[in-house]
This record gives sequence, structure tokens and C-alpha cells, in this order.
Amino acid sequence: MPNRPTVLVVDDRPQNQELIANYLELLEIDVVTAVDGDEALRAVNTRDLDLVLLDVMMPGLDGFEVCRRIKSDPAKQLLPVVMLTSLNQTADRVHALEVGADDFIAKPVDRFELVARVRSLIRLKQLYDRLDDTERVIYALARAVEAKDTNTESHTERVGRAARQLGKEVGLSGSALEDLYLGGVIHDIGKIGVPDSVLLKAGRLDPAEIVQMRRHVEIGAEIVRPLRSAVSLLPIVRHHHEHFDGSGYPDGLVGTDIPLSARIVSVCDAYDAMTTDRPYRAGLTSDVALDMMYDGAGRQWDHGLVRLFIDRVLPLQIEPLKVVV
Ligand SMILES: [Fe+2]
Repeated sequence: MPNRPTVLVVDDRPQNQELIANYLELLEIDVVTAVDGDEALRAVNTRDLDLVLLDVMMPGLDGFEVCRRIKSDPAKQLLPVVMLTSLNQTADRVHALEVGADDFIAKPVDRFELVARVRSLIRLKQLYDRLDDTERVIYALARAVEAKDTNTESHTERVGRAARQLGKEVGLSGSALEDLYLGGVIHDIGKIGVPDSVLLKAGRLDPAEIVQMRRHVEIGAEIVRPLRSAVSLLPIVRHHHEHFDGSGYPDGLVGTDIPLSARIVSVCDAYDAMTTDRPYRAGLTSDVALDMMYDGAGRQWDHGLVRLFIDRVLPLQIEPLKVVV
């Protein structure tokens, strides 16, 4: 039985600490508290924490500085930090992200929002803990690739979560679901090898550029090949653009010859890409995207997975974790 996750709540007001602790009561976690920045940093350095909920306005070191110090320590930078503040200025949100905060929740804190985010971030931290050093680098690299194009912010996170959920609906369990999540997050890692002039082009790609763009699946496969987890991630990275009718790339695989994990990520990736703004077009409405999914079921995507995604996964989708500033 793994240890219960531990969450550090940092707030100079005891009543706020108590409120947050009450909100988190239903989660199977331990809550520890700190009243100021110094105490928070001591706790971070001496305890095995899974998440920090950090008030911004505190006497002495403020939340920004505490967050900056946590994130500048290589041993602690994967510890998720959520800033809690009644400040609602864009500048403060930007500041929070600049100092490395993973998320930002406005006060008064909504109970359900808090619980949902804490649950997600703890799961992410537990996943990080399972990774070896090489895998962490790959994961960080995938985030960096995504950050190059602000339009796709949180796209891969949503794809990862949807892929995990779709995997569950298909009947997969355990580490297969975590592999789907991780594969969903890093599936486009090969875009690191695609020139920005192609990746960020605000217009249709010409034939040569299409070839360059398509190479991302092979570049990605080479990046993940040395990983311990390559056996589960490589099929996703290499085959997420195969089409069910064999018209996709890079290998023109047909139907169930396409690895199941790649078919799952392909469906989740397509829907999220369609409904998100891209450099060359605004995001489609959900209805239009669904029409296109139905239309492409059996040709581009596995029809059974499209149906499961629309019937069972989409209704569960929640907002991305990252704050849009
Ligand atoms: Fe891709």
C-alpha cells in the first residue's frame, strides 16, 4: 500500500488553513501546514511532500519568492506548487507562472475546483516519482516543445488525460493507463526537430513543409527509443498519425495493425486539436468537431474508439489545469 500523499498548505491565517484542510478532507491525503515562507521552505526541505498550496500575500517571504526558491532547487522542481490568492490581476498571474507555479487558484477558493486540481496534480507528482531521470528529461522536453507554441498550451496534458480515460473505457488498467497518459503528453515530442518556420506557420504548409512536419513522428521515435518505457511509448509516438484505412503515416498501417495505444491517442489528439486555436485557424466548435469525428470514423480513426470517446470520455472532460493569462 503506497503512503498517503502529503499536501503542504501555506497561509498566515489559521482559519484559511483550516478551510482548505476541510475542503480536502474527502481525499485520501495528509495535510500539513506552515504559517509563513520560512516555515514552508523548512517543510519542503525536510518532508516528503506531494503538493504545495501556497498563499501569495504573507508577511516576510511572499508566496512568489517561496515558489521561486522551490522551483530553482533541482531536487524540488518537480514538486507541484499551486498559488492561492485573492489578487486577480493579470500581472500577478504572469508573475506566478514566471516563478514556476504549476497552477493558480483565485480566492475565495471553490471547493470542487480545489479538489479536482489537487487530485490531478498529486497524480502527476506520483507519475513523476515513477519515472527515471532520462524519462523526466524527455517529459520536460515535451513540455518545452509545447511551450514554443502558446496556442497549444495544455493541449498535450488534455490529450494525456483523455487517452487515459479512453483506455479505461476500453478495459485497460494499471500501468497501461499511466503509459497512455504519458504517451499522450509526449506524443509530439519529435516536433523539437521541426523548424519553427514550419511548426508555427500561419498558413497552409506547402508539400515540402508537409514532409518536414510529418518527420516529427520518426524524430520522436528516435528520442524515446532509449527509454526504459520505450516499449509502451514508442508505438504512440511513431504511429499516432496512422489512419485506420491505411492512408496515414509513417508506415501506412491498417486497422488493428495500428497499435491500440496509438489509435487511442490519435482520437483524443484529433478532437483536442480541432477544438483548439491553431496558428492557421481558429478552433472549431464542439459540434463541428464531432461531425468531423463521425465522418472520419472508420477511415481516419477506429470507429469503436470514436464512439466510446464521444459517448463516455467527452462528457467527463474538465477544464485544463493551466491558467490562461
Ligand atoms: Fe503529431
